[in-house]
Amino acid sequence: MQRNDRGHYTVPTAGLYPFQWNWDSALSALGFAHFDEARALTEIETLFAHQWPDGMVPHIIFHQPDDGYFPGPDVWGTDRPVPTSGITQPPVAGFALARICNRARDTGPVIERARALLPRIHAWHQWFFRTRDPEGTGLVAIIHPWESGRDNSVDWDDAFSRVPTEGVAPFKRRDITHANPAHRPTDAQYTRFIYLVQLFRSLGWDNARLHDASSFRMVDPGFNAILLRSCADLADLADALGEGEIARQSRAFAQRGIAAMEHLWNPALDQYACFDRVAGQLVDSPSIGGLLAAFCAIPPERARAVAGRIARLGTQARFMVPSHDPTRPEFDGKRYWRGPVWLIVNYMIADGLAAAGEHEVAQRIQTDSIRLIEESGFAEYYDPLTAEPCGGGSFTWTAAMVIEILNTRRVPA
Ligand code: GLC
Repeated sequence: MQRNDRGHYTVPTAGLYPFQWNWDSALSALGFAHFDEARALTEIETLFAHQWPDGMVPHIIFHQPDDGYFPGPDVWGTDRPVPTSGITQPPVAGFALARICNRARDTGPVIERARALLPRIHAWHQWFFRTRDPEGTGLVAIIHPWESGRDNSVDWDDAFSRVPTEGVAPFKRRDITHANPAHRPTDAQYTRFIYLVQLFRSLGWDNARLHDASSFRMVDPGFNAILLRSCADLADLADALGEGEIARQSRAFAQRGIAAMEHLWNPALDQYACFDRVAGQLVDSPSIGGLLAAFCAIPPERARAVAGRIARLGTQARFMVPSHDPTRPEFDGKRYWRGPVWLIVNYMIADGLAAAGEHEVAQRIQTDSIRLIEESGFAEYYDPLTAEPCGGGSFTWTAAMVIEILNTRRVPA
């Protein structure tokens, strides 16, 4: 983590990801807080220093030029003082800030800085419900797979096949010069990633128009669970800080959203699933997005079912939790979000299951996470069958999650 620290922000890993990423920073702050609370808050403050006037918090902040990454600022063309991307990422900052405050050792300064961040995080949450839930369903859509943080999940395959590829300017990928191409998204997917970026850019990054204009509009249970958990935790923090109106609105977002999550329950898969807003149907894809739903306060019987589903996956994979069901033909144990285990998702699922009283499965997830780094180091992600380290190495948020898990897990009696 210290090697990836650039002073006021942290890169996910040098080379492959040379800028600041949104949910990487918020989750990494949790790790920093164990040894430097002030630095942890700086990480989140830097992220919010680049919040857009409409409330959106971008997924990448290009603090300094680096041509080792594509697509860079010239492709996004967002016209910000410090260049940023034009889309967002899972809003985990509210959860992270509340957790850092609850555990603070140096309470005074932490609370003062949290007080300043509170309205900014709330503005981001309001932005989501305003621009990404125009019909008031209680749940928000992502409009680009990169927003989910699960870039090439099987969840997007069908919907993504409807995204055109015509008119995409020729480009040169940089990710495959840093990591094994067999561990990364395909060229066909990259072309569509860039198509959507070009489309949004042609609309001037006007968030009032992007949702309806996008041919990709997906309600991801994992993404929504992160948003709803952050709203619920921000509500508690706001109450503690005497910010009653923020607390009231945040709690209302959380309650309405958690009730709406029930529409994402897919009985055929026995787990939550994405809802494709363009096609108007649930997606037949048993991915980790539907299990990450347990990060928010879903009903106890649903948490039990998610735990049961993970326990069954545990009979097919050596390490929990594979990002896709290993019995499905699309499963690929080394390709990014189509099979590998990611420690950040493990951490959030285990946290939600433990809160719901599902301790046995939560502990198995935590134990597997530690076994993975013991066998294979601080990789970006891991093959759930072999523990092979995949993607980039020396990964910040993987290290942060290890610190978190070692400091917070309940040791079995
Ligand atoms: C990849 C991941 C995304 C992450 C980023 C930086 O794009 O899919 O979730 O934020 O890398 O680590």
